[in-house]
Amino acid sequence: MLNDTITHAERELYLTLLELAQQQPSAYEWLTRLPTWLNDIKDKANYAHAPAYQASVARLPTLTVNNVDLNSDVLTIEANLSESQRKQTMALLKQLMPWRKGPFQIGGQLENQIDSGQNEDQQAAPIFIDTEWHSDWKWQRVAPHLGNLKGRRVLDVGGGSGYHGWRMAGAGADTVIIIDPSCLFYHQFMAIRHFVGAADSYKTHYIPVPLEALPEHSQLFDTVFSMGVLYHRQSPFEHLQQLKGQLVKGGELVLETLVIEGDANTVLVPHDRYAR
Ligand SMILES: C[S@@+](CC[C@H](N)C(=O)[O-])C[C@H]1O[C@@H](n2cnc3c(N)ncnc32)[C@H](O)[C@@H]1O
Repeated sequence: MLNDTITHAERELYLTLLELAQQQPSAYEWLTRLPTWLNDIKDKANYAHAPAYQASVARLPTLTVNNVDLNSDVLTIEANLSESQRKQTMALLKQLMPWRKGPFQIGGQLENQIDSGQNEDQQAAPIFIDTEWHSDWKWQRVAPHLGNLKGRRVLDVGGGSGYHGWRMAGAGADTVIIIDPSCLFYHQFMAIRHFVGAADSYKTHYIPVPLEALPEHSQLFDTVFSMGVLYHRQSPFEHLQQLKGQLVKGGELVLETLVIEGDANTVLVPHDRYAR
């Protein structure tokens, strides 16, 4: 049987924006554009792999989730997981490789394991998604410098698989919207959303668009994160302007990027890509 995780997440996103628009009229523009944004990511003509990624998420099994910890370095979803569910989940998550930003863990605690899993219904070892990058290390570096996220509306620009966005929700943010144009990362987020379920009270959302696609002067967010994105942009100045346009007056911008030696007048504007 197929799950309705993506449809459900989309509905929650609509409801969140609708509620927001009642207090902040600039959010109406987001609501108007949302159907296009969400349709585009499903369009095979734009993203050849979209149908396959969608099918992988839709086939993830429904587990009994006992606890979700969005506040730990390994983002952990404790759930009952049989051997057959483990095999099925592993195979589907592999369809969503490469997993670059994490780590995540799904399943029970190893010490609760009954035996080596001969019996199909016994608790299997948890699934550990050991990602290419230790996103928890970046969060440890950044977190001490942040204003309190409790109750804040947050935008994470270029949020990848959503690891940091989940951590922002774990740190008490009221609403988190992650944006990133990657079709793969969007579906990785949806895979994790599938297992997190309602544990975050649906305060963590994902819109699969680049920053440039957003209405320019929304001024909707108390905190805007841009981590590891600025040096990808051909026009860093424009990126900064666009970030500013998403912030409320007096809001906080968290900019994490590569730095170069120099004084206040030294600016690196890459003519081409920063790497390769
Ligand atoms: C190096 S990764 C950083 C991911 C994550 N923020 C982190 O710090 O680990 C850069 C991310 O920016 C995304 N990205 C690239 N261009 C973007 C744009 N114009 N708007 C938003 N995100 C963008 C990429 O898809 C990628 O996920």
